[in-house]
Amino acid sequence: MTTTLMTAAELYPRVRHVVPAVEWATMADDVDAIGRLKRERNAVILAHNYMTPEIFHGVSDIVGDSLALAREATSVEADVIVLAGVHFMAETAKLLNPTRTVLLPDLRSGCSLAESITPADVRELRRLHPGVPVVTYVNTSAAVKAESDICCTSGNAVAVIESLGVPEVIMIPDQFLAANVARQTGVRVITHPGACEVHERFTPADIRQIRDDHPGVTVLAHPECPPAVLDEADYAGSTAQMVAFVAARQPERVALITECSMSDNVAQQFPDIDFVRPCNLCPHMKRNTLGTIRHALETMTHQVTVQPDVAERARLAVDRMLAVGNK
Ligand code: 13P
Ligand code: SF4
Repeated sequence: MTTTLMTAAELYPRVRHVVPAVEWATMADDVDAIGRLKRERNAVILAHNYMTPEIFHGVSDIVGDSLALAREATSVEADVIVLAGVHFMAETAKLLNPTRTVLLPDLRSGCSLAESITPADVRELRRLHPGVPVVTYVNTSAAVKAESDICCTSGNAVAVIESLGVPEVIMIPDQFLAANVARQTGVRVITHPGACEVHERFTPADIRQIRDDHPGVTVLAHPECPPAVLDEADYAGSTAQMVAFVAARQPERVALITECSMSDNVAQQFPDIDFVRPCNLCPHMKRNTLGTIRHALETMTHQVTVQPDVAERARLAVDRMLAVGNK
């Protein structure tokens, strides 16, 4: 891939609404180095919507929610993919494009959902509920995906469940996403007690407080939040669906009930909208910094691999998910 090498000074307009010029000046050396390294290594940076603005708008090539990153990973032609996100996202990119080198800037970038469940847990659920299909959230290890029939993301969970045409599913490991999807589809859902440590902390009282403090605010909540929180919101959707909602409706004032960097990134795109910023930080996502991304490209670490037998079975579950959107 040939990209024009833009300097930090040239990139500044992309972040100027959310990154003060004095801060950008301290980042310029890393931004310029990352640009040069991407060219030398023939690398692209895939970044999740929860990256900080200097990563999201400054150095990334492809950005999006978990579904978009998985889709985009399939067609990357560059030799190297730096996944500015968390471990399960890097594994998914590797599964979908196995001949590329996939780098995760910090191997400690986990996820409370992925850590809540093991392949043995999935086998036990199957034993307890024979014949019930297993729908696994992408926020899981490849080994857990390998035990599953199909994957889903927050952006396509309803479509995936409806595509199965069954009255009951095992939907793991996010108890709240499962409960929210059950309400939307009417399908009975057996789940697992996992939760996102960022979204489980929001409460209905938080939303009521936001409405009291910011009259007229439009509240968008992520479906990893508890159902009682979604009941207080105007709209529920994945991070990309939140961006699409804001772009289409252009509300005057918005609260995004999700991870902190979302509002910063969307505010850069819509400087005239007033973003109320109640948020919780994801410590795993925040392990990605310009410094760790630069280090990843300098040292070609940390390479994420998946054992071939696991990869083959996990890819089937992810491919089935991607096929749902293509029908
Ligand atoms: P989406 O971007 O797919 O909505 O996922 C949110 C999330 O928590 C990813 O870790
Ligand atoms: Fe996992 Fe939640 Fe962090 Fe996403 S925001 S990586 S679901 S802990």
